[in-house]
Amino acid sequence: MNKLWSEHVQGIMTLFLSRRLRFHDEFFPQYEGLFRLDPNRELKVLEIGCGPGALSEALHRWYPKAKITGIDRDSSFVAFAQATVPDVTFLEGDATRLPFENDSFDVTISYTVQEHVAPESFWGEQRRVLKPGGVCICLSARRGIQHTAPCLEMTQEEQAFWESIPQSEDELEKLGVCRYPMSEAELPASMEAHAFRAVSTGYAMIDLTPDDPKYPAELAEAMIDEGRKAALEAIHSAHSDGAEKAVAAVNQKYDERLRLYRAGIKQWDTAVSVTMMVRGVK
Ligand SMILES: C[S@@+](CC[C@H](N)C(=O)[O-])C[C@H]1O[C@@H](n2cnc3c(N)ncnc32)[C@H](O)[C@@H]1O
Repeated sequence: MNKLWSEHVQGIMTLFLSRRLRFHDEFFPQYEGLFRLDPNRELKVLEIGCGPGALSEALHRWYPKAKITGIDRDSSFVAFAQATVPDVTFLEGDATRLPFENDSFDVTISYTVQEHVAPESFWGEQRRVLKPGGVCICLSARRGIQHTAPCLEMTQEEQAFWESIPQSEDELEKLGVCRYPMSEAELPASMEAHAFRAVSTGYAMIDLTPDDPKYPAELAEAMIDEGRKAALEAIHSAHSDGAEKAVAAVNQKYDERLRLYRAGIKQWDTAVSVTMMVRGVK
């Protein structure tokens, strides 16, 4: 039972809800052009480091004929994914020792995983389990744009709560998080160096601006609420007494943001995430 990531790095709901927005159908046209996968084929797809399963869930909607498997070494993520996305097979396992035969998948895909796994294993294992001619797609988060609404700025109650928690600066390093970061040039070069051919790159820009009228109310409110859930999950996972004031402050500020949205009082707060996509062929 490995729960390192879900307990120390990112909580289940924080990952699941943020990814559900990034892989919302609204944004599929941006991914589709680089994925270049045939929706009419019964593709065998493996998602590496699937976390709580939001990308696998989206892939199942976008490619309903595909047979999708997700693998992650965090047992809480896998249990959540199994309960939430019933049409996908989720397994606990290590990206550096994939429990699959050689030449068994048409596609391997991952989102924000490459930087945590040594390149030899990351590419080598995907190449091993891909069929000849199979496609490897690596999605990587890049620097985005963030503008916070004044009503959502960190409150004094939250600040006091976080200042009361002892911070362990090198905890993420100890857990092996982000040990292998790569620049926009290094990523495709590394894929080529590990014997993938026809390597191509592209970028998706996911613009989460709730006040933009192009977004239906349900999606706009999900954008606002994702921030609330992430803030509350972070407070709860600090396992510290005295969280009540911070929790109340978070709920109050997100209630206010929703009130402003519903009243049509625009804040134009925005979170734009940029995803680099690299695609190569075995
Ligand atoms: C930033 S999270 C991304 C999760 C998921 N792709 C998402 O976007 O929701 C990185 C994930 O990689 C997983 N991971 C890291 N190293 C791994 C390894 N060697 N084998 C399997 N999973 C790994 C972690 O458990 C975590 O779920």
